[in-house]
Amino acid sequence: MPRILRCDPKLLSKDLRGRVYIVTGANSGTGLTTTEQLVRQGARVIAACRRVTAGEEAVRHLKGVPGVVEVAELDLGRLVSVRGFVERVRAAHPRLDGLVNNAGVMDTPQGVTVDGFETQIGINYLGHFLLTELLLDLLRASAPSRVVLVSSVAHVGMQNRDAEIDLEDLHFERRRYDGIAAYGQSKLALVVYARHLGARLAGSGVSVFSTHPGWVRSNLVRHMAPPWVQNLLLKPFSGPLGLMSAEDGAQTQLHCLLDDEAPTHSGAYFSQCSILYRQKADRRGGWPMRSPNPRTHDDALAQRLWDVSARLVNL
Ligand SMILES: NC(=O)c1ccc[n+]([C@@H]2O[C@H](COP(=O)([O-])OP(=O)(O)OC[C@H]3O[C@@H](n4cnc5c(N)ncnc54)[C@H](OP(=O)(O)O)[C@@H]3O)[C@@H](O)[C@H]2O)c1
Repeated sequence: MPRILRCDPKLLSKDLRGRVYIVTGANSGTGLTTTEQLVRQGARVIAACRRVTAGEEAVRHLKGVPGVVEVAELDLGRLVSVRGFVERVRAAHPRLDGLVNNAGVMDTPQGVTVDGFETQIGINYLGHFLLTELLLDLLRASAPSRVVLVSSVAHVGMQNRDAEIDLEDLHFERRRYDGIAAYGQSKLALVVYARHLGARLAGSGVSVFSTHPGWVRSNLVRHMAPPWVQNLLLKPFSGPLGLMSAEDGAQTQLHCLLDDEAPTHSGAYFSQCSILYRQKADRRGGWPMRSPNPRTHDDALAQRLWDVSARLVNL
């Protein structure tokens, strides 16, 4: 198994006082560990959570650290919630140094969000798409600033199936629903969008990254198996499987947020190591690495995806 990539310790001791970040899905997994690290370095983090009480419970232990955590309600499965969240952020914060689009769901039963989008494309991609687009002027005004879109190795494909985006049937209305294909589609959309947005924002001082955080022990697998199977039963085999803690799973996002060189790769995909890449050479990951999915390099697809997304969220 390739070695876990870890941030330069100097980045993790940078003084972040005065900086403001948003982390979505901050009550659990890599969203929580990213939040913890940023506030320990003195930042103010808006912990955007679907369940505010779960968010407050999760960050309670952070009292007394140099930074500040503010828990705020954000349900990415409801566009009205995304718009309300953005309004509250803009009213309270004159600057935004980083947006970490971390929240996600995986292999959910077939369903739709309140806006009628397939659940995974709706929460993982379209909710974050709207959030990012509505915050762009604040990010531009705060430049240099950064956007991190947490994708997955699943954007390449899983279980021997290539991931793809079907713009004619984004919501599985005409094809048979497949939870893994829907997850792969949503995570591919994030990588494609990151590259497109990176190009759009060239020269603005706002840099954009997509990431694979690694195979992380968290609650994400809840729709596939009880989380204890992965988080307790498989824990002794973590090394050979490449299964890692949520602290290690935050490293790629923290690198993208804090590394001085990262903005020279705006739009790129940054990956933690993963045994799930088909080619052995890809398994060590890379900050950045070229995605093995050729769809991520298709400019026409990226433009069409942007057009469809803007229409769906009524931008
Ligand atoms: N774990 C892995 O092996 C792995 C691998 C590749 C990529 N990723 C990606 O990494 C990210 C973090 O996952 P994780 O492993 O930390 O999983 P996790 O522990 O399940 O965390 C997911 C977070 O997303 C939040 N969320 C779910 N639906 C939401 C909604 N409608 N609105 C707002 N927030 C919502 C969850 O809130 P609730 O607690 O309220 O549900 C939770 O805070 C995800 O994007 C995932 O796809 C993870």
